[in-house]
Amino acid sequence: MIPPKQVQEILDATRIEEVVEDFVTLKRRGVNMIGLCPFHGERTPSFNVNPARNIFKCFGCGKAGDAITFLKEHENLTYPEALRWLARKYNIEIQEVERSPEQMAEAQLADSLYIVNDFGLQHFQKQLFETDEGKSVALSYFRKRGLREETIRAFGLGYAPDERDLLLRKAKSAGHNLELLKKVGLCSQDGSRDFFRARVMFAIHNLSGKVAAFAGRTMSSEKTVPKYVNSPETEIYVKNKILYGAFQAKKAIRQLDECLLVEGYMDVISLHQAGIENVVASSGTSLTEGQLDAIRRNTKNLKILYDSDSAGIKAALRGLDLALEQDLNVKICLLPKGHDPDSYVQEFGSEAFTKYISENATDFIFFKTNLGLEETKGDPYKRDGLEKDIVGSIARIPDPMKRGLFIRECSALLQVREDALYDAVEKLIKNTIKKKEEKVVRQPGAASDSRPPSEWSDWPSNVPPSDSSDWPESVPQLSLKAKAGAEFQERDIVRLLILYGQHVLPEENITVGEYLLTDIEESLGDFDNPLYGKIAVECHAMLVQGKVFDQHYFIQHESGEVANLAIDLLAEPWEFSPNWEVMWNYPLQNQPMPEHNFTLDMRQALDRFKLQKVQKMCALNLTRVQTASKSGDHEAMMRFMKIQQKLNETRNEIALRAGTVVLVK
Ligand code: UTP
Ligand code: MN
Repeated sequence: MIPPKQVQEILDATRIEEVVEDFVTLKRRGVNMIGLCPFHGERTPSFNVNPARNIFKCFGCGKAGDAITFLKEHENLTYPEALRWLARKYNIEIQEVERSPEQMAEAQLADSLYIVNDFGLQHFQKQLFETDEGKSVALSYFRKRGLREETIRAFGLGYAPDERDLLLRKAKSAGHNLELLKKVGLCSQDGSRDFFRARVMFAIHNLSGKVAAFAGRTMSSEKTVPKYVNSPETEIYVKNKILYGAFQAKKAIRQLDECLLVEGYMDVISLHQAGIENVVASSGTSLTEGQLDAIRRNTKNLKILYDSDSAGIKAALRGLDLALEQDLNVKICLLPKGHDPDSYVQEFGSEAFTKYISENATDFIFFKTNLGLEETKGDPYKRDGLEKDIVGSIARIPDPMKRGLFIRECSALLQVREDALYDAVEKLIKNTIKKKEEKVVRQPGAASDSRPPSEWSDWPSNVPPSDSSDWPESVPQLSLKAKAGAEFQERDIVRLLILYGQHVLPEENITVGEYLLTDIEESLGDFDNPLYGKIAVECHAMLVQGKVFDQHYFIQHESGEVANLAIDLLAEPWEFSPNWEVMWNYPLQNQPMPEHNFTLDMRQALDRFKLQKVQKMCALNLTRVQTASKSGDHEAMMRFMKIQQKLNETRNEIALRAGTVVLVK
């Protein structure tokens, strides 16, 4: 292991342009350097390197990152390998920390489990291809199911004959350890017989192509025999992290920028054989977070194919909210009755298959809405549940523009007012962030001097009801543009945290991160955009724990969503179109900043952020004034009016400072 101090030393020494120039010829253009992108074929250069920020971005294919990302992608290195590569380049001698005895033992155990599984694979393949029984029973079974020999080999298919301890005997005489054979589940726990018997075998590979486990399918159609049996979970086979077929599909998924998800092993194999290679299976379980992560690292586009009689569709759909949260574009496609992808492609061929799914794949949220509408026909109680369900799904989409589109479409489908749906979604987002935020340890006494007026704490915590019929008529609705604009203020804050979080402010002698976060501590739970909110909360928590967050931390963040955002933010000045300011109605401050206007940039970002929050409160409070006035509750009305006055003052004060014009009503 490389000690953290040396990791930092390596990163500090690394110049992105020097690393890239080992592979790509770069020419200077302004502050950037430009060349032909090594990740996609092009004739005119759109591959940019920014030495000042130590990052690269290709405007053609979108690939972006730091030197580590470049080496990982270009040279197919792992993170530690990339670090070692850089250490060699910059002549930094790595003093590896000895791995602890536990870590050594763990790595050794994994290695030996793979070795035993590899023995299993060889054995099953030999039984399939080289024995009479294998050929007549199993190979003919696979052939009957339409598989060619190259496919059978590529997927590591095999055969386990109906013999008590054939594998066991062979393994022992080849010197394999009985305990390990038990552990990977190739034999019974008492070590007396083989685990897989009278079954055709499927090797389950990990991402790098090593055999992590096996599945055995019976060839009998008797219902009393379990159709598939699987290896037990081990250190190398964690079911909810492995996607069947991912090793064989990886390349195609990246190239086509889409992943097809099917239910069964045979579906993956048949489709692959038919030339549709971007396909994986979740092996009968519903999708897990770990599996989604694996998909998202390769593409954002997921198409899920279900058999139309599939029992678990509804349950599966529930699990898919997780995919929305990770900003995946999820489509669902039901196959015609009586077919699964395997049977369909074997019967009609790949062209028909591709045509069918492109015509029948429906966006997940619409799919769910339509399914729900059918089910809840004429039942207002269930109908209400459906609306909540859909609101719950939409609220998980991190991209505000995408959310807006779904809200519009679903309001039409559900025949609910668009603005009512909008507010229900917004309310849910806010509550969710608040709940998450409550879990984060707060630093006592670190509040800023710009606290909101004390009356704010008097506000009833239940914001207006989401039921559209209860809405006062004149609720000021923020337009889509204004809402998106609100997120822009938040993005601005997150941009500063990521780009300059560790930067020390000369006058204040604290870091930008400390300055920003203590100032907006009260609003951490009020972010409209869940992703930005998550980052702010995470930064705050790290600050409290005295941890360091810098560019590198975010670019290599374990959440791909956060890493992508970091890159986008770092690359932003290259991307702004001239009408950006007009579009968002806010002056921009995110050109690379000379030292002298740095503090200004931050103060303005803070002001814009606060202004947006106060404006929202103004609008909200106004409805309270109106409601109280309508119901004749004079006392309440006066109280709210007083609050309104304070809010307006605060708003105008900030607006004046920020140089933004606000219409005072
Ligand atoms: P299916 O019953 O659809 O099987 O289960 P299949 O893959 O289409 O197989 P064929 O076409 O009948 O040969 C879908 C998946 O669910 C898991 C397996 O991963 C299977 O591929 N499964 C199913 C089990 O793990 N155990 C079972 O008993 C059944
Ligand atoms: Mn099948």
